Amino acid sequence: MSHENVLILDFGGQYNQLIARRVRECGVYCEVKPYTTSLSEIKAFSPIGIIFTGGPGSVYDAHSPQADPELFTLGIPILGICYGCQLIAHNLGGKVTAAQEDSAREFGKTETFFNTSCKLFRGLPDSGVTWMSHGDYMEQVPAGFALVAHSAACPNVAICDESRGFYGVQFHPEVNHTENGTAMIRNFLYEICGAKGDWTMVDYKTNTIRQIREKVGDGKVLLALSGGVDSSVAAALVAEAIGNQLTCVFVDHGLMRLNEGDEVEDAFSKWDINFVRVNAEELFLTKLAGVTEPERKRKIIGEEFIRVFEAEAKKIGKVDYLCQGTIYPDVIESGAGDAAVIKSHHNVGGLPDYVDFKEIIEPLRMLFKDEVRQLGRELGLPEYLVMRQPFPGPGLAIRVIGEVTKEKLDTLRLADHIFRDEIAKANLEGTMNQYFAVLTNVQSVGVMGDGRTYDYTLALRSVTTTDFMTADWTRIPYEVLDRVSVRIVNEVPHINRIVYDITSKPPATIEWE
Ligand code: XMP
Repeated sequence: MSHENVLILDFGGQYNQLIARRVRECGVYCEVKPYTTSLSEIKAFSPIGIIFTGGPGSVYDAHSPQADPELFTLGIPILGICYGCQLIAHNLGGKVTAAQEDSAREFGKTETFFNTSCKLFRGLPDSGVTWMSHGDYMEQVPAGFALVAHSAACPNVAICDESRGFYGVQFHPEVNHTENGTAMIRNFLYEICGAKGDWTMVDYKTNTIRQIREKVGDGKVLLALSGGVDSSVAAALVAEAIGNQLTCVFVDHGLMRLNEGDEVEDAFSKWDINFVRVNAEELFLTKLAGVTEPERKRKIIGEEFIRVFEAEAKKIGKVDYLCQGTIYPDVIESGAGDAAVIKSHHNVGGLPDYVDFKEIIEPLRMLFKDEVRQLGRELGLPEYLVMRQPFPGPGLAIRVIGEVTKEKLDTLRLADHIFRDEIAKANLEGTMNQYFAVLTNVQSVGVMGDGRTYDYTLALRSVTTTDFMTADWTRIPYEVLDRVSVRIVNEVPHINRIVYDITSKPPATIEWE
């Protein structure tokens, strides 16, 4: 498979994934690699352009990450962002120093003025807000470089040497707060690196299907299908490639949302694959009986899941490949790059190591979530599956506070369905990233008709977030909340009070347990 490559050299910045996403959004393939990557590996990747990321260090510090000086001799255009910009200056004869308080040190949104004759800013307005976050600045610009942007506090916001194809910006074009940031990245790719934009999901699908066929031959592949976006798209891709050599094991633990199990099964009926749905509701509920502590619930569900999956795998016999829906952010976050390890992801290494298989295949390993969704569409998966919001592995068990029973799950399922239905009717799905109902174990007094009730309080939760590590509560319009509330208390037995959770993360978490 050959397509244009862009290399993102990782110097430990916090927005590195975002840079990669922006490049991919522009239709160009890129990979994030650590700054320690050898020159021979970089040459083998044959990038049409290189982007140096930001980073927490100071380029003049002897222990800070450095770029191999030979990178500047390859004839490949380079864009340096923040620390990356300072690296260019530092390497090519400029001077970078710590900015004095109140002078050229900048954090946050900054009005910036551009010279639009520079290819990086071509066709864009000559001023706009940029997102700054730097304590160092370029006191002296290297010979041959022109200054092409400034702000009130800093004369050296962007530099370029167009003859050599070197560009540096102190601000972060990858962050949404920078107006026209993506357009600047697009200019770098198309105007400066000469990209054609050959990265599309249609090509990816065709090429990956061919590769899976070549690799698997007439072997057997096993996949644990959770119903989430990633495992569903991985399953659809492998199904398209090898049909009934694939077995999908879908463990229905009875902790799914309304109709979810059937929807997943329906979506895969169009492929001639071996689809095994294990209806294990009773088993899981028996194991969860009397358990109230959230981490204990998680542990029981995790263990039981593996046990059920393993029992099914044994029935199938020896399989050659285990397929997992690992995606690129999981790979980056698990520490493949130089950015600090943020969390060890649930999907990575979550399956038993005693299932008998030869090798793991991860066909989505280099894709971002939005690309995975697009690939799912190309493969003909329905929109509700492709756009599914994150759903925790332990399912509704951690949204029924306290003991989990079938009755409580059914109550919650119905209420959650109404909440999602009203959000969809109000066309608000795009304004929130995860939203759901929680059945609290608080009971309170109410009045319905002429009678007194003593029923449960339901909490509604919705968050707006990009990374799920921090999140803001969504400002859902009152009239929508009102409709949800009225419908739920009227249509769902045993709920007589609705509250809306208005805490952000931190200090709260997204889930209640
Ligand atoms: P919290 O509640 O930690 O949630 O703010 C962050 C994101 O992770 C999801 N989540 C889980 N996903 N197993 C999972 O697969 C879990 O045990 C789990 N707990 C939370 C949560 O839904 C949110 O998207």
